[in-house]
Amino acid sequence: MSSEPITVLHNRRIILGVTGSIAIYKAVDLASKLTQAGALVDVIMTASAQRFVAPLTFASVTGRPVYTTMWATDAGALPTHIAHVGLGEGADLLVIAPITAHTIARLAHGLADDLLAVTALAARCPVLIAPAMDGGMYAHPATQDNLATLRARGVIVIEPEEGRFASGLIGKGRLPETHTLMGHIRRALGRGGALAGQRVIVTAGGTREPLDPVRVLANRSSGKQGYALAQAALDAGADVTLISTVSVLPVPVGATFVVVETAAQMLDAVLQHLSGADALLMAAAVADYRPSAVAAHKLKKTDQTAKTRTLTLVRTPDILSEVRDQRARTGWPRVVVGFAAESEDLLRNAQEKLQRKGLDLIVANDITAPDAGFAVDTNRVTLLDAQGGVEPLELASKARVAEQVIARVARLLEKRG
Ligand code: CTP
Repeated sequence: MSSEPITVLHNRRIILGVTGSIAIYKAVDLASKLTQAGALVDVIMTASAQRFVAPLTFASVTGRPVYTTMWATDAGALPTHIAHVGLGEGADLLVIAPITAHTIARLAHGLADDLLAVTALAARCPVLIAPAMDGGMYAHPATQDNLATLRARGVIVIEPEEGRFASGLIGKGRLPETHTLMGHIRRALGRGGALAGQRVIVTAGGTREPLDPVRVLANRSSGKQGYALAQAALDAGADVTLISTVSVLPVPVGATFVVVETAAQMLDAVLQHLSGADALLMAAAVADYRPSAVAAHKLKKTDQTAKTRTLTLVRTPDILSEVRDQRARTGWPRVVVGFAAESEDLLRNAQEKLQRKGLDLIVANDITAPDAGFAVDTNRVTLLDAQGGVEPLELASKARVAEQVIARVARLLEKRG
C-alpha cells in the first residue's frame, strides 16, 4: 500500500478518542494510517483504554503527544488554560473509535467527567463515533436510545459489523476494519467540498460478454482508475454511484454500488441512474462486440482435427452515444467525461471520440507506456476539452490523476451554474 498523502486528510487535525474495548488494537492501526496519509492525529485515551494499550503505542505511531487526563499536574494532561475548551478547538474532526456503550451513554447525557467527554462537549467540529461492544450490549434499548439521541444531534455513527467477538459469540458489534473507518473519516471531511450536493456517476472495470456458461470475452481493465475517480468524487463531497463490473477492489465507503457484467447491463444501469445526475464519468472499458449468441451449454470441440474456430460477434450499444442522445432531450447529465485508452495516435483518436460522443472532457492515455494504463497504480494522461484545450498531466498515482479530473469536473459544473 502506498503511503502517499491523501489530499482530503493532509494536514487536517483529527482528534482520535479511544475507549476501553479490545477493538482498540484496530485504533492503533487507524492512528498510524491516518498519520501516514498526512493527518495530524491527537489521541485522547480514557482510563479504561489505557488498561488495554499504553499511551506510548499511540504516541509512537502518531509522533504527537497523547492525552490521558484533564489534570494539569499529571503527565499526559493539557496545559490548564486550555483544559476546558480542550483539543476540540481548531480540530477538523473528532473521531471516537472504538466507543464503548458507557462512553456513548456519557456523550448522550452530556457528562463531562474526563478529558474525552469534556472535549466532545466543547468540540464544534463534526463528531464520528464507531461503537464496538458485545452484540447484546449494542442491541440493548439503552444503547440504541443513546445512539438515536446522538444521531439526532448530528453525530455520525459508523454501524458496527457482524461477526465473531472476542467472547466467541457471533453478533453485531464489531469495529469495522481500518479501510472502512478511513472511508467514513474521508466522507466526513469531504462534506462541503467542491462537489457538495452534486450527483456523480462513475463506471469502472472491463465488461465481460458471455460466450457460454464458462467462457467470457473480457479485457484487461482493472477498474483502478474508475474506483479512484469514485473515491476522489466522494472526497469532494459528491453523492456517488459506482457502476462496476466485479472487481477485487474495495468499494469506496459512501458510494452506491451497482454491479454489472455486460455492456448491455452497463447501459441499462447508466440510463437508470442518469436522470438528475450532474456528471457522468465513463471510465469503464466497454466491449464493442459480444458473441452473437450465448450457448446454453459449454461449447465442445466440434471437430477434433480443426485448427481454427470462428466466432461471430455483433456490436454492443455505445453507452456514451446513448447518453449524448438522452442528454440532448433532458439536459442531464450536465457534464460528461469519456476515457480513451489508445495504443497509437493518442491525441487525434481522443479528439475524434470527444466530438463523436459529444463529451465535455476526455481523459486520454497511451496504454503502451509501461507506467500507465491497465493494472498499474500510476497513470500518465492528457485531458482534452470541448473547447480545444489540451492539458498533459504529469505521471502520477491513479488517485492523484482522479483528483485532477474531479477538479476539472467541478470547474465545468460551476461554469454551467
Ligand atoms: N464506450 C461506451 N460504450 C461502448 C464503448 C465505449 O460508452 N460500447 C465509452 C468508454 O467507456 C470510454 C469511451 O467510450 O469512455 C471511449 O472508449 P473506447 O473503447 O476508447 O472507444 P470506442 O468508441 O470503442 O472506439 P474504438 O474502439 O474505435 O477505439
